[in-house]
Amino acid sequence: MIPLAEPVMAGNEWRYIKDCLDTGWVSSAGSFVNRFEDGVARYLGVAHAVAVVNGTAALHLALIIAGVKKDDIVLVPTLTFVAPVNVARYVGASPIFFDCDPGTLCLDVNQIAQFLNSECEKRGSGMTYYKKTGQRVGAVIPVNALGHPTDMDALTEVCRQYKVCVIEDATESLGSEYKGKKAGVLGDIGCLSFNGNKIITTGGGGMIVTNNEEWAKRVRHLSTQAKKDPLRYDHDEIGYNYRLTNIQAAFGVAQLEKLDEYAARKREIANRYRELFDGFAGKLKVLQEASWAKSNYWLSTIQVAADMKEPLLAYLIAQGIQARPIWNLIHTLPMYKESMVYGGDALCARAAWESCLNIPCSVNITNEQLEAVSAAVKSYFT
Ligand SMILES: Cc1ncc(COP(=O)(O)O)c(C=O)c1O
Repeated sequence: MIPLAEPVMAGNEWRYIKDCLDTGWVSSAGSFVNRFEDGVARYLGVAHAVAVVNGTAALHLALIIAGVKKDDIVLVPTLTFVAPVNVARYVGASPIFFDCDPGTLCLDVNQIAQFLNSECEKRGSGMTYYKKTGQRVGAVIPVNALGHPTDMDALTEVCRQYKVCVIEDATESLGSEYKGKKAGVLGDIGCLSFNGNKIITTGGGGMIVTNNEEWAKRVRHLSTQAKKDPLRYDHDEIGYNYRLTNIQAAFGVAQLEKLDEYAARKREIANRYRELFDGFAGKLKVLQEASWAKSNYWLSTIQVAADMKEPLLAYLIAQGIQARPIWNLIHTLPMYKESMVYGGDALCARAAWESCLNIPCSVNITNEQLEAVSAAVKSYFT
């Protein structure tokens, strides 16, 4: 079987993790936690980075520190992994779903601007409310889909105007760039994931990054049970046990040392697929970055005719190739069926869902395996 995206441990992982075991620093304090946070902050050029247990926890805390509360609205893409939508519900807010850009598959930022300009109003508090229901618009969560950054300039501009917090879901896009700036630091708060299938992993892990010192302090506090006093069991609000362990951080420090190499390999893989599928233009397309973006190509994605997707998926799996569809549109899931989809439908997201497949692209995939995957895809069409 050729896996979709498996983790690669080819650096100092054993050495750093052994250090934790040898010294007894295995839990949520220890020098690797600080080293991992400092390393990511330096890499991204951001003032603060706080490590947490996973990307979902990072998104959850991001909404809390952004002040998103019960009955607020959170603007989200419908084409995404489900976590950034679920976290809106964790804080009692409701999602409104938006379509994607057909080229990048990221949030259609023009739709967000249209919604804020025509359906919302700023009130005396400076906050923005959805006119139809009177709910406050708490945040927008652009998701950098499949590693590709969102077109952030237009989004951050309109959100600044309406005082809507931008929480960049960069869980898939570490190593990507938007107009020369690193993905993850393009909004008010960025969230990262180090899940096993991500470009670098800690087994499970996440991080919140921000230039706002107050927010960073609050995340640290909330992620450690909101403990006020290191000695006494004194807590000043409802906190969470969300801190990453030193063992996981040690894993992360080793992986971070390889990030540039892994991102370069992911780009090479996507480009190689493009070459290998040359001549199949009428039948399939390899998703390509926008002119203003440098994608980490976390996943390599092909687009085929809608009636080909499912049969091709089944064919590849039968050949031992771990192809995968992209996510079901979130507004079609039972928990979100009643939620609003701006514009009534999400035609580009639906078209992407109907036509996109992810194909194997682990950092350690061999060139022979790339050829085997492309040969299998081509054999389906010939
Ligand atoms: C877009 C997106 N957001 C959030 C998450 C959640 O991250 P984690 O699995 O680390 O909780 C993931 C994936 O894992 C994701 O792909």
